[in-house]
Amino acid sequence: MKNIYSNIFSFSKKVLKKTYLSLNQGKIVGLPTETVYGVAGNAYSKKAIKNIFKIKKRPKRNPLIIHYYNIKMAERDVILNKYFYRLFKKFCPGPITFVLKKKQNSKICSLATANLDTVAIRFPSHKIIRSILKFSNFPLAMPSANISSKLSPVNAFDVLDEFKNKLKIIINGGQAKFGIESTVIDLTSKPKILRPGIISSQEIKKILKTEFSQKKTKLVSPGMMRKHYSPGIPVIIGKNPYKKDQAFIVFGKKFKNNPNFFNLSKKGDLKEAAANLYRIMRMIKKNGYKKIFVSKIPNLGPGIAINDRLIRASK
Ligand code: TXA
Ligand code: MG
Repeated sequence: MKNIYSNIFSFSKKVLKKTYLSLNQGKIVGLPTETVYGVAGNAYSKKAIKNIFKIKKRPKRNPLIIHYYNIKMAERDVILNKYFYRLFKKFCPGPITFVLKKKQNSKICSLATANLDTVAIRFPSHKIIRSILKFSNFPLAMPSANISSKLSPVNAFDVLDEFKNKLKIIINGGQAKFGIESTVIDLTSKPKILRPGIISSQEIKKILKTEFSQKKTKLVSPGMMRKHYSPGIPVIIGKNPYKKDQAFIVFGKKFKNNPNFFNLSKKGDLKEAAANLYRIMRMIKKNGYKKIFVSKIPNLGPGIAINDRLIRASK
């Protein structure tokens, strides 16, 4: 079924086949996941990977996450280890990405992994992406479906906003449940969180029963780049706005309803706040505000990921 936009589709068997055929030809498509929407291509196809970097204007040195249906598929490309198995059992499929050593005979296009000898892999839980991964005989390279350094999309219309009709297929899988990117953890040696996410470091530590590495990593990773997640207008943290054309992102019940106040979660729930963050920032920009001010967000659990994104958005 088509929506009013000719490139946004509801999911059906027919759309699954159409999507698979496109992917099989090295074309790229916009897909929902439980974290944010992604732009997906066959990870084994150089053409597809080139298309992804091009449409996102992504620096070539930033590697992509490779998405799999199950362990059996992932084993073809990466060396799994005990830390991986423990975390997989607890959190997968779900919003966590593992950096592991690449196998010598892996078919993953080296451009996708920025010529590194490691690969970031993820097993997304959204039903639609799982159907596509199950149907395909290749994994999907899939970064967030936004122009590099901009806000990640959390629904099909955000993807359209970013890429217009450059994508011929965008599948509408509703509003993303978590609304913020997966937690990225390096498991190639002593575990280390590279990007905080909905699954917190405390939860991960509990499962791994080990401390994290404190080493500074050389890896260049957009999640670690300073400027990222930008809504396209200045973001200022910890101050109050002073003009009407400035928006104020707040958190918790102590804030009154005010036309230019945008509450991430009235009931003070950090998970809900994460799910609302990008949607609200995109809406504020669309409503014509010139600046975004942000009140203090508690720095615990999902709040750590929220603050990480806000700080980068403010650079
Ligand atoms: O939730 C998500 O992870 C979403 C959905 C679409 O799956 N994807 C996503 O991809 O956020 P992207 O490309 O926007 O972010 C991927 C992050 C970047 O910070 C990248 O540098 C890091 O993963 N990464 C990828 N491969 C890596 C590697 N081999 N070593 C270290 N970091 C890596
Ligand atoms: Mg991204």
